[in-house]
Amino acid sequence: MDWGMKNRLAQIIKPDGKCFFLPIDHGYFQGPTSCLEKPAETIKPLAQYADALFVTRGVLRSAIDPVKSKPVILRVSGGTSMVGEGLENEMLTTSIEEILRLNVSAVGLSIFIGTKYEKQTLKNLTDLVNMCEDYGIPVMAVTAVGRELEKRDARYLALCCRIAAELGARVVKTYWCEDFEKVTNGCPVPIVMAGGPKCKTELEVFKFVHDGIEKGAIGINLGRNVWQHPYPVAMMRALHSVVHKKATPEDANELFQEIKSKSEPKECK
Ligand code: 5RP
Repeated sequence: MDWGMKNRLAQIIKPDGKCFFLPIDHGYFQGPTSCLEKPAETIKPLAQYADALFVTRGVLRSAIDPVKSKPVILRVSGGTSMVGEGLENEMLTTSIEEILRLNVSAVGLSIFIGTKYEKQTLKNLTDLVNMCEDYGIPVMAVTAVGRELEKRDARYLALCCRIAAELGARVVKTYWCEDFEKVTNGCPVPIVMAGGPKCKTELEVFKFVHDGIEKGAIGINLGRNVWQHPYPVAMMRALHSVVHKKATPEDANELFQEIKSKSEPKECK
């Protein structure tokens, strides 16, 4: 691996081999998502506990201070919306010149395997890999399911992750599922887990993150379960302890309760 590629990967994956990415890219198809209406305010207390931010160029320029930023993974696919025909019909939104101008550590795009737009989104991936490899920029593929959340089983996600890696993704982001080792065992590049819609309890989140890491994921890219929670800092710190300090779900829950007891709840619609 060339120096630039290694260096950028080391910016987002810490020396313990683990990572906690904070995604705030949801607005690119959802608009002003609940609790993310003002991204700068949402991330202000949280960014310090993240290893990298996953963000579009619009939010990067408007909400993130270039002088003291965390490493950035730039979201470079889009072109669809919650109110349109479907979320799958994505294109690449960002040129290589813009990626270089923004000096990001990595880029990320969604692929929609098993949909009408499978080939188009896989072409987006290969085009992006071809552009970015020339400059040592890692590509993170997101195995997206759009509105079909029930698709998230080991057989489907293993297929998606393997295809993304075969086509050149340096990191793959996918969902946690039962038998998660079937997903990690079949994927030759590191896997990070997304959170999905907000879970009912904090312990549920700590449990799936812990299980996924035990089964081979290198970390998380978890948004709504953090910043839609009334105690986002407590969530962030508890999850950080699972990812980087090998905390058990019960340890993390204890830390969460301790921080919560000293904090005020955050209100958002
Ligand atoms: C949205 C994304 C998000 O980065 C990803 O889904 C993680 O966020 P969450 O934990 O809220 O699911 O790709 O487009």
